[in-house]
Amino acid sequence: MKKYGVNELRKMFLDFFESKGHLAMKSFSLVPHNDNSLLLINSGMAPLKPYFTGQEIPPRTRVCTCQKCIRTGDIENIGKTARHGTFFEMLGNFSFGDYFKEEAIHWSWEFLTEVVGLDPDRLYPSVFESDDEAFDIWNKEMGIPAERIFRFGREDNFWEHGAGPCGPCSEIYYDRGEKYGTGPEDVMGGEGDRFMEVWNVVFSQFNNDGHGNYTDLIQKNIDTGMGLERLAVVCQDVASLFDVDTNRALMDEVGALAHCRYEEDDKKDVSLRIIADHVKSCTFMASDGIMPSNEGRGYVFRRLLRRAARHGRLLGIKGLFLKEVVDAVVENYGGNYPVLVENKDYITKIITLEEER
Ligand code: SER
Repeated sequence: MKKYGVNELRKMFLDFFESKGHLAMKSFSLVPHNDNSLLLINSGMAPLKPYFTGQEIPPRTRVCTCQKCIRTGDIENIGKTARHGTFFEMLGNFSFGDYFKEEAIHWSWEFLTEVVGLDPDRLYPSVFESDDEAFDIWNKEMGIPAERIFRFGREDNFWEHGAGPCGPCSEIYYDRGEKYGTGPEDVMGGEGDRFMEVWNVVFSQFNNDGHGNYTDLIQKNIDTGMGLERLAVVCQDVASLFDVDTNRALMDEVGALAHCRYEEDDKKDVSLRIIADHVKSCTFMASDGIMPSNEGRGYVFRRLLRRAARHGRLLGIKGLFLKEVVDAVVENYGGNYPVLVENKDYITKIITLEEER
């Protein structure tokens, strides 16, 4: 299997879905528009909610995106585990009342096995426990043996996030092999690092009013989400999100400033990961017009930036250093996000002013 880089995989995904009639749209801002339920955009579907509910007409009934996302539910764990980060990009293909389960499943398989070249024998789908239709598509049309298709309950295979469009889902896991774990948690659907969930294909057909009352949406939709860096973890066969090429480049930059190398000292590694992750989040937040403050999104910005600065001190870096990390973020991500390049001076100013405080 070829070890594609993060920037290559993003393009491969968007090109593939364009070839299937999708309109590739630019990432929406991290700041939600007309949506009080979210502080920051946290999934590919979040900015598209009005298209799912039929409130607004989409530019096309098939759309694909690579969406900037920030999740801050577990800040204390960042840097300590393989899977936690605040900033990530979510690849997604969406159907607004256009295709449904069949095409969504076929194309996810085609992309993973034929375009990225993942070994089909290492891929395992799951379906919602009562979803015989999805089970049959995997089994009869895709030829996956029944014992390799897992039926999971609501917690794993019904996607919803507070109020809004939701539905049963089918997830695709990749078996990374025994070198990533052999414990009781290293089973399909388990918490271990061996089986990694790469893609979530949601059959979005209900609306939750936020109080657990479900009604049918006016149309059946598809909402899929695949973490770009997770896909890169699998494709590059590396231990964690932090080891993929783009994150590695950021950590190398911090290591050069701190005169240390990644993977030499566990404690320093945690600091390197935290700085890389947090500065990436802050760079993208600043580029979307968020400013550090004491509440809401601004507080998330301030908290992440201060944590990054503190970990710089722990690594023994003297003086202001975040600017250098911002430069590395712009260098690695500016190709796909030209706004980072255009607004680099402004972003650097906001971050340095806060660092000085
Ligand atoms: N909404 C689903 C998720 O966030 C699929 O995009 O996982």
